[in-house]
Amino acid sequence: MQTITITDFDNWRKIARSLIASNTSPTEVQWVDDDGQQSLFGNEREPDKTRTKATTFRVPREFISLAQTVGYHRDANRWNLLYRILWRIKNEQPHLLEIETDEDVYRLTKMEKQVRRDAHKMKAFVRFRKVVRDQEEFFVAWHQPDHRIVRRVAPFFSRRFAGMNWTILTPDESVTWDQQSLQYGKGVTRSEAPDFDELEDLWRTYYANIFNPARVKVKMMKSEMPVRYWKNLPEADIIGDLLADAPRRVEQMIAQHEGFAETAIDFIKQDAAQPATLASLNKMASICSACDLHRDATQTVFGEGPVNARIVLLGEQPGDQEDVSGKPFIGPAGKILDGALQAAGLDRSQLYVTNVVKHFKHTTSVNETSTSNTSESKGKKRLHQKPNAREVRCCRPWFDAEWSCLEDAEVLVCLGATAATAILGPGLKLTDTRGLFIESDHCQKTLLTWHPSAILRSHDNSIRERKMQELIDDLKLAAKEKIHVET
Ligand code: URA
Repeated sequence: MQTITITDFDNWRKIARSLIASNTSPTEVQWVDDDGQQSLFGNEREPDKTRTKATTFRVPREFISLAQTVGYHRDANRWNLLYRILWRIKNEQPHLLEIETDEDVYRLTKMEKQVRRDAHKMKAFVRFRKVVRDQEEFFVAWHQPDHRIVRRVAPFFSRRFAGMNWTILTPDESVTWDQQSLQYGKGVTRSEAPDFDELEDLWRTYYANIFNPARVKVKMMKSEMPVRYWKNLPEADIIGDLLADAPRRVEQMIAQHEGFAETAIDFIKQDAAQPATLASLNKMASICSACDLHRDATQTVFGEGPVNARIVLLGEQPGDQEDVSGKPFIGPAGKILDGALQAAGLDRSQLYVTNVVKHFKHTTSVNETSTSNTSESKGKKRLHQKPNAREVRCCRPWFDAEWSCLEDAEVLVCLGATAATAILGPGLKLTDTRGLFIESDHCQKTLLTWHPSAILRSHDNSIRERKMQELIDDLKLAAKEKIHVET
């Protein structure tokens, strides 16, 4: 039996590749974490090089992605599990990952989900405190993740707080960003983490100011934020007061005609009783009057699809036919989308399809030749208008709420610039970023692609065909078809 000490996923991958090449069975290897400790017995060694021959073989890309995530799990047996699965894919069952009932595959996918959830929590609940040293500002946070996710999440913080000097301390390890690079160091216990009243006061004031009572979701907060995190959050001790004051503030918002209006009250009632579901959100959204678009629209067009959808398609807003039927993407753009989905081998009934804005924004023009029955008055044509930033902002909480219900969602496909901007912020050029996975606050795998209407609007045949092919290719990427790659 060989004992192999592993530092991280890349290290595991390199050694696993050579062990597979030398036909080393999982029963001959014991993988252990390198915690910076010397072995008591001194029997760890590199794989037996005499049995190693350089060769390449192919494994599903999906495995690499799962394995990379599971590498951050705390379970000491994860490297053994990963090697056993790799071995089985190579020697026994190339399509092993498709067998969801297989015990190893079940464990692997469960662990992957646990890591993803933990990373999501770290992004949401880390709170920095300011420290001034030699007239320079530093920001420090302490967090206790369930898994060893510091290196997975640190790049996210370096992008989000690029212009700050910050350190995140955790019991496993710490990470520091000096506005140029990330440096990792030892972990610290809770008692070593600084506790600065000044920053807590600042944060309390900030939190009270940004607090939106219409968005309070007590159940969700409790389930998302385990009680042990609450003590790390300076705002925790004012949440009670803020909640008590929420109904009055909602009334105030209604009076000022800002925010969600009457739907906000439903949110609060709903949250007190039971967590939101897609169906309950749909019902609440049906009376949303957060912006003026509801006035001229027939109805709210909410998202559609199964709650366990893995792929979520996000469009801009319903069109004329969607407004009449109440369903997303059933008009001309929907036909294009259906064609692209079919060509990409995706079954629409397994996807969640929705829009950033849930009401049809349009102007009405007289159209002498029109015989359409879909518009409210015959002979008049309702012309699509792009929603503005305020309308997108008003409607965005509905998508956030939909997304939080879709627990199995793995890929978020933004169809067109409005969806891309709503999720990733302004400044992205679709022509530069189309077809690439980008990490967003919603989803690690956010993919930007053409809106089907962009294909409809292309008068030039060759441009239309190219864009359609690109849309199909991007949807294929989202489908994570088992593309085989070198490992
Ligand atoms: N365009 C969109 O963005 N969404 C629809 O539902 C229909 C057309």
